[in-house]
Amino acid sequence: MSADYIAFTEAVYKKTGIDLTLYKEAQMKRRLTSLRDKRGFTSFQNYFNALRTDEQLFQEFLERMTINVSEFFRNRSRWDVLQKQILPELAADKSRIKLWSAACSTGEEPYSLSILLHELQLNGSILATDLDESILNRARAGLYLEKSLREVPQALRSAHFLKTAGGWKVSEQLKKLVTFNKHNLLKDPYPKGIDLIVCRNVMIYFTEEAKADIYNRFSDSLRPGGILFVGSTEQIFNPHKFGLESAGTFFYRKG
Ligand SMILES: C[S@@+](CC[C@H](N)C(=O)[O-])C[C@H]1O[C@@H](n2cnc3c(N)ncnc32)[C@H](O)[C@@H]1O
Repeated sequence: MSADYIAFTEAVYKKTGIDLTLYKEAQMKRRLTSLRDKRGFTSFQNYFNALRTDEQLFQEFLERMTINVSEFFRNRSRWDVLQKQILPELAADKSRIKLWSAACSTGEEPYSLSILLHELQLNGSILATDLDESILNRARAGLYLEKSLREVPQALRSAHFLKTAGGWKVSEQLKKLVTFNKHNLLKDPYPKGIDLIVCRNVMIYFTEEAKADIYNRFSDSLRPGGILFVGSTEQIFNPHKFGLESAGTFFYRKG
């Protein structure tokens, strides 16, 4: 790593608590270098000096480093398994279940969970967290473009969304089950006694060391028998190392 980039990661850590060295380096550096160049800075030092005082530039940096793409029921077939098998099993001997959508981005994932709880008539609550406060404000607003809903069938659209001039607005009943909080997976304490953790399409950005730490902490966060649901490129190769066992493709059960 160049001294200029190392100094940049240290300065960013001091300002935001975000440790860039725990993200895969080549990928992160490439993304940030192209943004820095686009804004006309020739070194990370100059770029950081500007980020310190220019809020807009800082927001742009945060957006570039976090990558916020999401959609409702992303990889639909897994959500079908969640609906038909996993959620009913988790709720079998409990009156209320606790779900956590970690790295939830613009909110499509926690609202998809909320739809399933309503459809299955289950009692539960959904904690939805992300590193990026501005993305959480968009999630709280709950307004989406057509392309985010391409996996949402007509019956669910009618039941849970209102079509407005600005897009599709999630219903108040969906919102009621979801609480959005800022949370850094690499740093903040994890909630306890969770029945289902959904954490998808963020682990790909972390180093092996950071991933192992997060899996251990997810395992601690789950109640025995609880389930971790990961993204489609994020299989865990040695789940037992973290006290987890496979419970179907992209699902892991805490022992
Ligand atoms: C590609 S989105 C994934 C959204 C959703 N989980 C999905 O699969 O559709 C990645 C999200 O991870 C968040 N993120 C990145 N680093 C994080 C960290 N250290 N702690 C919590 N969230 C983080 C980003 O802000 C971004 O919203």
